[in-house]
Amino acid sequence: MKNKADIAVAGLAVMGENLVLNMESKGFTVAVYNRTYARTEAFANGRGKGKNILPASTVAELCDRLERPRRIMLMVKAGAPVDELIGQLLPHLEQGDILIDGGNSFFKDTMRRASELGKKEILYVGAGVSGGEEGALHGPSLMPGGDIRAWEPIRTIFRTISAKAPDGTPCCDWIGPDGSGHFVKMLHNGIEYSDMQMIAEAWNLLRHLCSFPPEALADLFEAWNRTELESYLMEITSAILRKKDPGTGAYVLDLILDSAGQKGTGKWTAECALDLGMPAATIAEAVFARCLSALREERLAASKILPGPAVPKAQDEKGFAESVRRALYAAKICAYAQGFQLLRAASREYNWNLNYGDIALMWRGGCIIRAKFLDDIKRAFAANGDLANLMFDPFFADALAKAQESLRKVVASAAMSEIAVPAFSSALAYYDASRSGRLPANLIQAMRDCFGAHTYERVDRKRGEFFHTDWMDSGSVSATSTNYNR
Ligand code: 6PG
Repeated sequence: MKNKADIAVAGLAVMGENLVLNMESKGFTVAVYNRTYARTEAFANGRGKGKNILPASTVAELCDRLERPRRIMLMVKAGAPVDELIGQLLPHLEQGDILIDGGNSFFKDTMRRASELGKKEILYVGAGVSGGEEGALHGPSLMPGGDIRAWEPIRTIFRTISAKAPDGTPCCDWIGPDGSGHFVKMLHNGIEYSDMQMIAEAWNLLRHLCSFPPEALADLFEAWNRTELESYLMEITSAILRKKDPGTGAYVLDLILDSAGQKGTGKWTAECALDLGMPAATIAEAVFARCLSALREERLAASKILPGPAVPKAQDEKGFAESVRRALYAAKICAYAQGFQLLRAASREYNWNLNYGDIALMWRGGCIIRAKFLDDIKRAFAANGDLANLMFDPFFADALAKAQESLRKVVASAAMSEIAVPAFSSALAYYDASRSGRLPANLIQAMRDCFGAHTYERVDRKRGEFFHTDWMDSGSVSATSTNYNR
C-alpha cells in the first residue's frame, strides 16, 4: 500500500463511504476521516478492510497522509458543517491544495466559499454528485465547478469513478466557475422533482380512470420505458408497482403514506427561478405538490366537506393510456424547457458561460434523471448553443406538435374527474402561454397603473417609453418616479 493517498474523503456517511470504495476499486489510494473516529475505525475494519484506505483520526493526520497538492473531498451535510470542516482543515493546507464539496450545498454558499478560499490560494470546487448510494459506489454523475485550476489535478480521478453513458463517455465534465457545479446539481434535482411528480400523476390518472390491475399497470410502465420516455425513474416505477410486502402480501405502494418528504433542493430551484424571473412553474408545482401532500390531515378533513364530480372511467382504456403516455412526454419536454431556460438565465446572470449540451450529456448516466431523452437535448444544443428555449428546437417543436393534443385531453379529463394533475396542468399552461403572442398582462399593467401609477409601455410606441393614464378621471397626471416595469 502507498503511504500517501491520492485523495481524501472527509465524512463517512453512506455517500462518503461508497465514494471511497468506488475510488479505491479504480486503483486510487484514499485517506479517510470522520468527525467521530469510531466511525472511521468501523469503516476501516469493515467495508474498507484490506483495501488501499488510510484512516486518519484527526484533520491534521488526514492532511499529512496526502500527496501534494492535496485533494480533499468533503462529504458532509450541506450548510454549517461544510464551513466548520473547512475551518478545521485550513490551518493544515497549503497554497494549491484542493477542497471539493461533494454535498448538496446551495450554490451561493459555494460561491462565497470559492471566493474566500481563492484569496488564500486554496482551490475550491463545488461538485454535484448524483445517483444516490448506488451511484456513489458504482459510478455517479459528477458535476464539478469552481476554480478551474483544480480541474487538471482532479480530472482523472473524477472521470474514472464517474458513471459512463451508454457510448462510454464519462458522465463528468467541468461545468464552469464558482457555484456553477452546485447550481447544475440543484437544477438536476428540480427536474427530478418534476419528473417524479409527472410520473406519479400519470399513474394516478391510470389507476383512477382505467381498470388495469396493478400488474398490468406495471407492464404498461415497463412498455413505456421502451419509448421516448426511457429513463431510470420510469424503470424503477415499474419495479415499485410490482413490489409486494412479504408480511401482508399487499402491494408495498398501497401501504405507503401519501405524504412526500423533501430535503430542499427542489425548493431552492423554485426560489432561484423566482429570483431570476424565470417561469419554471412545473418544477415549482412539483415542490408545492409535495407540500400539499404533506398536509394530510387537512386533506382528509376537506375530503368530507368539499364536493367534486363523480369519477367516470375512461371509455377506451388503451387509447386513454396512450394519451397519458404522450401527455407525459409533452409535459416532460415543457419541464426540461423550463429547467434549461433557468440554467441559461443563471449562466448569464453569473457569467458562467455554461455549455448546456454538455450538461445534458453528463446526465445521461449515473444520475437520477438519466434518460434517453437527454441525447435529444444534447443534439438540440449542439445545433444551436444559445437556444432560448428547448421547445423552439425543430425536434422538440415537432414532438410537442404531435403530443400537445394528448396533454390537453388528459388535463381536461383530469379536471372533469376530480384528479389533481398540477404538473401536467402547469406544463400545458407553460406551453400555451409561451407560444401566445398576446397575454392578458396588459390588464395587469393597467391595474398597476390605475392603483399605483406604475406606468405601462404601449404596443404602438417603442419599448422603453412609459405612459400613465388617469384611469378614474381623478385629475392625477403624475406617474410614479420609480419604474416598476421589470
Ligand atoms: C441524486 C438525488 C439526491 C437527493 C435525493 C432526495 O441526484 O442523487 O437528487 O441528491 O438527495 O433525490 O431528495 P429529496 O429528499 O429532496 O427528494
